[in-house]
Amino acid sequence: MKDRINELKERFASELSAVSDQKSLEDLRLAFLSKKGKVSELMQELAKIPNEQKKEAGQLINTFKQEISARFDAKMEEIRKMEEERLIGSTESYDESLPQKIKRGSYHPITLVQRELEDIFESMGFDVEDYSEIVDDYHCFEALNIPPFHPARDMQDTYYLTTPNQLLKSHTSAAQNAIMHKYGPLLKEKGRPIRAVFPGRCFRNEAIDACHENTFFQMEGIMIDKNISISNLIYFMKTMLSEVFERDVTVRLRPGFFPFVEPGFELDIQCLICGGDGCPSCKNSGWLELCPCGMIHPNVLKYGGINTEENPYEYTGFAFGLGLTRLAMMKYGVKDIRTFNEGDLNALSQFVSK
Ligand code: PHE
Repeated sequence: MKDRINELKERFASELSAVSDQKSLEDLRLAFLSKKGKVSELMQELAKIPNEQKKEAGQLINTFKQEISARFDAKMEEIRKMEEERLIGSTESYDESLPQKIKRGSYHPITLVQRELEDIFESMGFDVEDYSEIVDDYHCFEALNIPPFHPARDMQDTYYLTTPNQLLKSHTSAAQNAIMHKYGPLLKEKGRPIRAVFPGRCFRNEAIDACHENTFFQMEGIMIDKNISISNLIYFMKTMLSEVFERDVTVRLRPGFFPFVEPGFELDIQCLICGGDGCPSCKNSGWLELCPCGMIHPNVLKYGGINTEENPYEYTGFAFGLGLTRLAMMKYGVKDIRTFNEGDLNALSQFVSK
């Protein structure tokens, strides 16, 4: 048995020194250490030798097995290093000053759409505002005419934080009240209409699929002045959407319920793919639901410090809540909403602004 092991040791050593890549190392490992390998053969022979020699022979085989396993590991490490060096070039020959092929970063498609919209609205005299993602119950609901325990809260499955009275903003409307307070004095003292858009990330507990995400972007807009009417709303929305889609779009309003607008609407655009004839993209209806909107509810204007109890209709205004994520999907033909949050650079780096 001893001779047999010594003979195998020599054979192993000479074969190992000839190995120079991972594949042949693996072949050699199988030849020695697999179920049908040399070490297993030795174990079978062990069964046949006289009992009194078994112990010593068994130990020899075990030592042999451990020895070759260790040498395999060492060789594997050596080959890995060699291959690594071959890939990156050895440190000595590395020249930092040589031009590198570096892939340029790119903007996220939602950022692109957001910036484009900001430009369009700014050109129409709107201010662009930022607002926090963690808000309190008053701003997200009560100031928007949604009292505690009102069933309208069920429309948005909201993430409440463990800190009392704090939640993740479920819609960008949560900023309306603060913006009214910020620009209200200018409106009343200087007659400067309030025109503001405020994009932001929103959170709702949604079951995630190709059309739903728990984290998405909206862009809210409000305009408040004397004599603002639904025609102003339609004009701004039409102008903005025609700019975004770079062609004339046809819109229509359907009644929609939101406690903070009265009347409230769903604004649809005529399907850009079939032109209104009906196709799979618009579920054969010819229209796509794009933007809830409406005339700001008198209570909301009152909470925002715009109108007073005595003169509740002095100023009027419209509000809209554009789904930025939705718009980015339509504009770029992205079929699965999850693409935006998955961080797959191949998918995300294809988009360029115009
Ligand atoms: N905040 C509403 C939502 O996210 C949308 C909306 C905004 C509706 C403004 C009307 C006016 O569901």
